Amino acid sequence: MVDKKLDQCMKPHGEEGITTIQNMNENHREIYDFGFECVDVGRDDKILDIGCGGGVNIERFLKLTDADVDGLDYSEVSVSESIRRNRSSVDGGRCRVIQADVSDMPVEDESYDLISAFETVYFWPDIAETFKEVYRIIKADGQFMIAQGTDGNHPDDEKWLKPLKA
Ligand SMILES: C[S@@+](CC[C@H](N)C(=O)[O-])C[C@H]1O[C@@H](n2cnc3c(N)ncnc32)[C@H](O)[C@@H]1O
Repeated sequence: MVDKKLDQCMKPHGEEGITTIQNMNENHREIYDFGFECVDVGRDDKILDIGCGGGVNIERFLKLTDADVDGLDYSEVSVSESIRRNRSSVDGGRCRVIQADVSDMPVEDESYDLISAFETVYFWPDIAETFKEVYRIIKADGQFMIAQGTDGNHPDDEKWLKPLKA
């Protein structure tokens, strides 16, 4: 049985989903910084942040590229919070926030130069199939960056991973 907190992190929903997103925006800062250190962002790079949550990383990428930065998340609350945070770029046409499951993204083949996934991959269904879907929409020389504080090799990781495996 997945507990309530983990359930919210997996798919933020309702009023509590908004609080969860606000907490993640604060608590994931170190992971965000780590992820940004691992990529080279070019001024022409078109970027997608999958599992975009509150849209903090969409906002950060928008400052590093002149091209479009999109977000994708299957949670209605995550999508609306990402749009709220990046309202001027959404209105200006530089940012789209797509509500969809990562396993079936309404995105054309080879669309992005850089795809990021912060603290979300462990929630994805059938990882081999979803990675194929990411591969389909990334350009041939694109970068796919995964940033998370859990790699499954630390005893503390079990508190997150055990309920997900159940
Ligand atoms: C722990 S939150 C991380 C949010 C944000 N990336 C961050 O680091 O603050 C996980 C996010 O991934 C999204 N997510 C989980 N599984 C997904 C799936 N199958 N398809 C699309 N989004 C998914 C959730 O809705 C949630 O917004």
